[in-house]
Amino acid sequence: MQLISRIADLRAALRAERISGRSIGFVPTMGYLHIGHLTLVKKSQQQCDVSVVSIFVNPTQFAPNEDLAQYPRDLPRDLQLLEQQGCDYVFAPDVDEMYPDGNGKTSAYVDAGELSSILMGRLRPHHFRGVATVVSKLFNIVQPDKAYFGEKDYQQLAVIKRMVADLNQPVEVIGVPTVREADGLACSSRNTLLSAQDRAAAVILSQALQLAQVLVNQGERSVFALREAVINKLQQEPRGQIEAVDIRDAETLAEIAEQLTAPAVLLLTVRFGNTRLIDQHVLRL
Ligand code: PAF
Repeated sequence: MQLISRIADLRAALRAERISGRSIGFVPTMGYLHIGHLTLVKKSQQQCDVSVVSIFVNPTQFAPNEDLAQYPRDLPRDLQLLEQQGCDYVFAPDVDEMYPDGNGKTSAYVDAGELSSILMGRLRPHHFRGVATVVSKLFNIVQPDKAYFGEKDYQQLAVIKRMVADLNQPVEVIGVPTVREADGLACSSRNTLLSAQDRAAAVILSQALQLAQVLVNQGERSVFALREAVINKLQQEPRGQIEAVDIRDAETLAEIAEQLTAPAVLLLTVRFGNTRLIDQHVLRL
């Protein structure tokens, strides 16, 4: 496994791989890796000849009041996990390498369009612009054939797919199902920021998602009734503060008038202390 921190060095290494006819799979991450990330790497290894993982906590997707400084980091541990996984290249640039203007700023951004201002975009207005910008930069640097993203960040995946289609970026974006811990909590680097009590309480998210699917299986189609049932379930756990419960078209993320007629995605955002957790489930009819 090669650890590279300079853009020019990564480009040179990957140019040689491409010339040798090898396909390149790419997994962008912000590090503090867990089994969910390693599942993305595994998928890349199954489908591509060479796998590249980037580790970069991207400042442009955090607002000044958000948890950029607190975001967990442990590069030595990440490298050990990726080495064990048999990853080929790790790209771990510093902030100035990615944003040479200094201070994690850039004058050109990728505007991720309408999908970036709904749902999580209401709570984090510049978040998806920052994600679209850094993912575009990383795509330009790595030039992967395929790129892998977790379905847990459902809106992020939708934003990136849309960006790639709209900007004709030559990469296939592949969504990989959410990996969960034994009690159902979706794997996330942010889980490590939870207190022991909040960690135990956070299982309520996956329980609420399961409840919604059970109700759909029993014939419930009303968006209002499903949303109410999910909110009531989440409220059984007083440690969690509900920020958003949305049921949207699974394909387009458009609002659904009243009744489910096609697969819909249930998106949850719940805060435990200072930590915002998200989770999702596609409700199959
Ligand atoms: O999902 C993440 O970890 C980040 O948003 C990403 C895609 C690596 C961009 O910084």
